[in-house]
Amino acid sequence: MPVTIIIGAQWGDEGKGRAVDWLAAQADVVARFSGGDNAGHTVYVGDEVFKMHLIPSGILHPQALCVLGNGMVINPVNLLKEIDMLREMGVDISPSRLKISSKAHLITPAHIALDAANEKARGKDAIGTTLRGIGPAYLDKTGRKGIRAGEMRDLEAFGELIRQAIQSANQTLAQYDADLLDAQSVAEAYVQAAHQLRPYLADTTYLLNQKLKAGANVLCEGAQGTLLDVDHGSYPFVTSSNPTIGGALAGLGIGARYVQQVIGVAKCFSTRVGSGPMPTELDGDIANRLRGTGENFWDEYGTTTGRPRRCGWLDAVMLRYSCDVNGYTSLAVTKMDILSGFDELKIAVAYEVDGVQVDYPPDTVAALERAKPIYETFPGWEQDITNARSFSDLPLAAQNYLKRIGELCDVPIAMISVGPEREQFIVMEQVLAT
Ligand code: GDP
Ligand code: IMO
Ligand code: MG
Repeated sequence: MPVTIIIGAQWGDEGKGRAVDWLAAQADVVARFSGGDNAGHTVYVGDEVFKMHLIPSGILHPQALCVLGNGMVINPVNLLKEIDMLREMGVDISPSRLKISSKAHLITPAHIALDAANEKARGKDAIGTTLRGIGPAYLDKTGRKGIRAGEMRDLEAFGELIRQAIQSANQTLAQYDADLLDAQSVAEAYVQAAHQLRPYLADTTYLLNQKLKAGANVLCEGAQGTLLDVDHGSYPFVTSSNPTIGGALAGLGIGARYVQQVIGVAKCFSTRVGSGPMPTELDGDIANRLRGTGENFWDEYGTTTGRPRRCGWLDAVMLRYSCDVNGYTSLAVTKMDILSGFDELKIAVAYEVDGVQVDYPPDTVAALERAKPIYETFPGWEQDITNARSFSDLPLAAQNYLKRIGELCDVPIAMISVGPEREQFIVMEQVLAT
């Protein structure tokens, strides 16, 4: 460390939570910097499956202080539910272990109602959001009328702020013909939540910088993925924040001088949930095999929404772009075990767009929709690889597949996961350089 930043290299759900879980064993602080409970991070420890939406995955490591950074949008009621859920599973959560940035913005039921109304109004062009109110909350933030977590310190004033925000949102909801909210009861529920969450509030910018000056290791846990970034993703089929490297620094208030590693977590095939272009998307048998039936928790069904994820071959054009946007120092490649048993595997190495071959994603959604992947084909492998713990334990075909990813991206692969369990990880001693 001192600062290691974990970023989703594709469309989210790459396995960031489990990569963070692995690295968090060495971390003093684990901090989320963007998004809200649109995220769903799964960590499997022993026989238990933990699903985190707002709380950093580092909470499962007792020594780690966990931070919800200023770049996040937080639904206080859902945060309390998550705290309760984790406590019931035996996780120690107290204000000494969990800090909420006073500058983070709050999600209200009005944001959630507006998210649904916006999606309905978009009709067939709906983004396929998680309906957690994320877009409307960031809109209020940048429109300079959001409510920040720090407001929860003064319960009376906070209640009034919430009441006014709901009343004002009701005017917009009325225009959409959507159901109106009861401002008074929302305010009461939010004051209740504020009362419980107040002890967790902190100036986390100050806290993190104090820790860094004292030599702490800080692990930054990205949410979503680079291709969902509001600037760098396939706009408008994106989330409303910057889940990329810039968002990590801005979303925590830390400087670049401390950053030692930026690790892009990439699934060894592609998945996307929600609408928008996905050049390597498949349907039929291969997609179904990649997705799984839904019987296993790691199958490709949304952690937050339960929606089946769209699946396809690995897209190295997108991955290279993701490497450019974030400047990864290394990649963590996940779910390699899922590729066992395929006769052959494919990686998109370029696109054909309107008869022209390109090796970079076109910068408009319309052109990206027309992009036809140009594939390289690789022999598959039969063996179960879930017990592999070193690179040399992998079949040659799997080694070659991984080496080619490193080459195509010109970024070394530092970690490889071969199953959802904590130990099902290969950490490259000699990083797989290109
Ligand atoms: P995140 O949002 O990036 O944290 O990813 P999710 O938790 O939404 O989705 C990744 C899913 O894949 C989770 O259920 C993980 O437990 C699972 N997973 C991660 N790495 C591996 C792996 O190497 N093999 C298998 N089979 N599952 C994995
Ligand atoms: P993690 O952290 C996958 C997608 C939604 C939708 C778009 C906008 O688990 O990787 P939003 O609710 O953010 O306005 O939705 O972004 N999306 C995710 N997809 N993983 C996520 O998080 C996502 N968070 C948002 O499906 O397409
Ligand atoms: Mg997820």
